Amino acid sequence: MKKIVLGVTSSISIYKACEILRRFQDNGIQVQVIMTRNATRLISPQLFSALSGCKTLVDLFGEDDGDRIAHVSLAEEASLLVVAPATANIIAKFASGVADDFLSTFYTSVRCRVLIAPAMNEAMYLHPQTQANIRKLRGLGVEFVLPEKGYLACKEEGWGRLATPNEIIERGMELLRKSESLRRKRIVVTAGPTREPLDPVRFLSNRSSGKMGYELAAEALRRGGEVVLISGPTALIPPAKATVINVQTAAEMAREVYKNLPGTDVLVMAAAVSDFRFESAAPQKIKKSNAPAKVGIVRTEDILTGVRRKKRKKGLVVVGFAAETEDVRRNALAKLREKELELIVANDVSSRETGFESDFNQVLLIDKRGVVTDTGRLTKREISRLIMDKIEDLLERKN
Ligand code: CTP
Repeated sequence: MKKIVLGVTSSISIYKACEILRRFQDNGIQVQVIMTRNATRLISPQLFSALSGCKTLVDLFGEDDGDRIAHVSLAEEASLLVVAPATANIIAKFASGVADDFLSTFYTSVRCRVLIAPAMNEAMYLHPQTQANIRKLRGLGVEFVLPEKGYLACKEEGWGRLATPNEIIERGMELLRKSESLRRKRIVVTAGPTREPLDPVRFLSNRSSGKMGYELAAEALRRGGEVVLISGPTALIPPAKATVINVQTAAEMAREVYKNLPGTDVLVMAAAVSDFRFESAAPQKIKKSNAPAKVGIVRTEDILTGVRRKKRKKGLVVVGFAAETEDVRRNALAKLREKELELIVANDVSSRETGFESDFNQVLLIDKRGVVTDTGRLTKREISRLIMDKIEDLLERKN
């Protein structure tokens, strides 16, 4: 049985939370409620305890069960956090990472998806600060069921009325389905640059930060996939639960990709693999006084081309990236055909606003049939979601 956490905060529409809870249960979902202290001034936590069949959590201290820390253990069990109704205050706390009560602490502990249904008066909802907080959370991957226009508790018509329980349940159930849409699938993601040594201290590399690949690995994990992340050197913390294989050179990355290919359903080559390496790498640091006048460089092996010749699972979906500085669409399409890919993610890396090192990106998704989707400028987390949606489509079509 799936377990979700329902966060309930102190909006006048709090009474609708009871119906939302019931409706999730009707769908076979177990619900644990967390209330804010202010919410308990409007409705007793005992009502939610009775409806949900488990004790409503309010206080951060005093909720420990044995030696487990309640917010941490619950975070591991929950498949979804729904906050309905959500006040401007809780949205602001989530957006800034304040963790000063059970619900806000819980939010900072979860890896599962988060769905927020705001409800407040129109002035608060339309306030630029609230809108900025919502935008920020969206960029971090939080989902919203936005309020509608209607009769509000302050006796005026306006924006801010909680979305209908129907809409909230539908979105919640859709997110729950997504949380296991890659179950039993093995996804290998490569990320970051490679480093090709000249000697023990110098190397040839590129500006890839690895952010896009790490976001893709995290997104595949959120969908229940088994993830192998083959990473060149980056400054990033890998997503929990991924099997991480660290490599330095293109040759090492090629070896690990081929080794991990059997049994793999999806290969995403997000790494910016160096196309060149030094002809030879000196075992000791090369001294200025006896440095050669010229150093030779040679091509590295193209991993995606190599994958075609390796033993691979029937139905393997191969996704490549194209880093371009001009004629993005045409160059990417040529790479898709040449490397026999199912999908290519093309980005223009000449812009400082997106691409290398940035948290943002704007890409074209081009599939084998020539269908092109322009994502527009989004965070790399949002883009990773669109790429995974597309990969799921391709998987379905192939199998
Ligand atoms: N790639 C690879 N092996 C390499 C170089 C690149 O598998 N030795 C993969 C990348 O991971 C990416 C795709 O090929 O998914 C395209 O990489 P890109 O650098 O854009 O293109 P290249 O094939 O290197 O071509 P060019 O440098 O001419 O643009």
